[in-house]
Amino acid sequence: MTSIKPRDLRFQLGESLAAEWNDDDWFSTAFFNSMSILFPYGEKSFIDSVRTNEKHINDDKLREAVRGFMAQEYVHRREHQRFNELLCDLKGYDLDYLEGAIRGDAKTLKDMDPLFWLATTVAYEHLTATIAGQLLKQDGWIKNANPDIAQVWRWHAVEEIEHKSVAFDVYKAAGGTHSMLRKAMVLMSWEFLVRYQLRSVLHMYRRDKPPFWRTLGQATRFLFARGGFIRGNWSHYWKFFRKDFHPDDIDDTMVLDRAINLYGLAH
Ligand SMILES: [Fe+2]
Ligand SMILES: [Fe+2]
Repeated sequence: MTSIKPRDLRFQLGESLAAEWNDDDWFSTAFFNSMSILFPYGEKSFIDSVRTNEKHINDDKLREAVRGFMAQEYVHRREHQRFNELLCDLKGYDLDYLEGAIRGDAKTLKDMDPLFWLATTVAYEHLTATIAGQLLKQDGWIKNANPDIAQVWRWHAVEEIEHKSVAFDVYKAAGGTHSMLRKAMVLMSWEFLVRYQLRSVLHMYRRDKPPFWRTLGQATRFLFARGGFIRGNWSHYWKFFRKDFHPDDIDDTMVLDRAINLYGLAH
């Protein structure tokens, strides 16, 4: 496990957040904007689920990694909150509506079995680390964007990879089973990748009214092309369902080192 330390960055996003900031492409801009909407409530739920289960940890190294994980997620929440508030302000999106789905789920999960709550965090952490790896590898995912907006995504992606195994290791220390993880992954994949995204992108579409056929073409390319969102993520995504899976089985060292150097993210 690499040492996990937060980079306490503050981004100056400005008016360019109102534009189709990702390569003048409405769909991929809306897709990443929708993902950003999930982080303040989502990452609070991740932190709380790990905190609720940390009494099971018997290993100082893991305890230290948990501190690093929480500190990183705390700064992610703060910066994505700023991102989301400015975005909604500039674009006229309803932040309360957009956050409604994840806010409701976070509340429901909190009242469930603490180990299942943590299993959902483990599933999310695999999803975010998978997407992060592709985002750093596929230069086309974030392209011709305002440098600060691009940096939000690269910085977040780097740190998601750095702490990708923490929740998993806490879950194992708490005695979590693999079958529960699989259930959590099926459920969270639906919520995170389909329901929340669809709900938010549709809201943004109704407000922005971009041309239908152009948007459909952009969506098809972004989601289904070679190296696109679905084909790009698939090979890492499905590994989670293997019985003996551990997040460190996926070696991201090269992607991570390259990104840290290329985007000036060394500590
Ligand atoms: Fe995060
Ligand atoms: Fe994370």
